[in-house]
Amino acid sequence: MKNKIFLKFLILGAVLTLIGIGIFRADEQDSISLQGVGLKTLNAGLVAEFNDSYVTDASPVGKIVDFDLTASISNLKLPNGKVERLFAYNNQIPGPSIRIKLGETLRLNFNNKLPEETTVHFHGVRVPNAMDGVPGVTQSAIKQNESFVYEFTPKDAGTYWYHPHVRTSEQLEKGLYGILIVEEENPNPYTQDITWVLDDWRLDRSGGLDENFNTGHDLMHDGRWGQYITVNGSLDEVLEVHNGERIRLRLINVSNARIYKPVFPNLTAMVIAVDGMRVADPFVYTGLDLSPGNRLDLDIIIQTDTNEIVIVDEFTRSKNKLATIRIDSELVQTPEFELKNYYVPSWVNANQMPVDAELRLNARRGGQYGIEWTINNKVFGEHTPLDLELGKFHKIRLTNESGRLHPMHLHGQFFKVLVRNGVPVSENFWRDTVLVKSKEVVDVGIVPMDEGNWVNHCHILEHAEAGMVTEVRVQ
Ligand code: C2O
Ligand code: CU
Repeated sequence: MKNKIFLKFLILGAVLTLIGIGIFRADEQDSISLQGVGLKTLNAGLVAEFNDSYVTDASPVGKIVDFDLTASISNLKLPNGKVERLFAYNNQIPGPSIRIKLGETLRLNFNNKLPEETTVHFHGVRVPNAMDGVPGVTQSAIKQNESFVYEFTPKDAGTYWYHPHVRTSEQLEKGLYGILIVEEENPNPYTQDITWVLDDWRLDRSGGLDENFNTGHDLMHDGRWGQYITVNGSLDEVLEVHNGERIRLRLINVSNARIYKPVFPNLTAMVIAVDGMRVADPFVYTGLDLSPGNRLDLDIIIQTDTNEIVIVDEFTRSKNKLATIRIDSELVQTPEFELKNYYVPSWVNANQMPVDAELRLNARRGGQYGIEWTINNKVFGEHTPLDLELGKFHKIRLTNESGRLHPMHLHGQFFKVLVRNGVPVSENFWRDTVLVKSKEVVDVGIVPMDEGNWVNHCHILEHAEAGMVTEVRVQ
């Protein structure tokens, strides 16, 4: 099986190389045709298929929602109960859950009371480039006791989150993350709208937060995995429900590196959104690798004769408890509504398109940690941005030449997974983060709609810290 896939892949590669299209842009190659279809036509077709997939411009309703956010050192409890000097937004972990309605403008007045520089990045939100929070790319780092106003009108309703983009592997691990929910204009009448923030904590022998960040071991492997898993900061998160309830459950993985595969025994959950964006056609959840950065929105009708359901994570061999749903005997009426469809192009013809650019993921010796994680043999700062054309179809190949995991995240844009290891994939949703496992090759399709310089990096924060960050320039 594997050989066959590999062979297919080899043949495809050979064909593409033979006709000499390599990594060049397809629309400049209109004389070339694959299976009788001109690439230019094909490209135009893919763009046409994309059109109106998601909005280009935010349509602000003119309402500004002010929110004050302060990052500071706070004395807060670790999962084991020990009080520790952690980093927090508004003295809480997770940080505040900010809720606005689609069309409203968020004006986030941010204050840095940390003893070091920081920024705020809104993960998955299509913000104006200058609001993206990446030092050296979109803004300067915010110094101690300085402030910055982040102001934008999100273009898409959905589940998002925010976190720093400076020394992220350490700042985020110490507690800096919060939730941003952009509500639809007419949200469905769920009985409860719940967010579960998944994080893990590594404590040392004394029970305090392990202050050894970016260790050689973490860098050489899949980053920092902690031994305590919390949901909304708790080891024993419980959701109380009645039979008949219909809940919207939003899962967000804010861990530095841990990947989860949540399993809901005795419950049927429908996937309604991935990475904030609605899926084309809601489908029954059967498990999804939730990498750092990923979000998953589920529609769950509680219908069971048990009174307790334990949600476990099955990504690793040891099953980890995530949270408990406790069902009470009282029966309530289930809100009835149809789950709407959403338009996502199938892009089946994209398989015939050549690859515009390949990002090879690997490691090398050197740097301040002794190991550096590279994209096309370069670490952040050595790269030249990859140019993408606004409104054009591009196919980008992520080739993991290493033996480790790389959940690759692109700022400011959504992409669709087309092919994994030479086999077409039929995901009916957009993503902003995709897991590329050891030696895997993943092709994604994208029509960039948001101008600017956007980073593309591994969301295993230790890998990013050790260089695995590059940049695309959309214009
Ligand atoms: Cu959560 Cu640069 O991203
Ligand atoms: Cu990585």
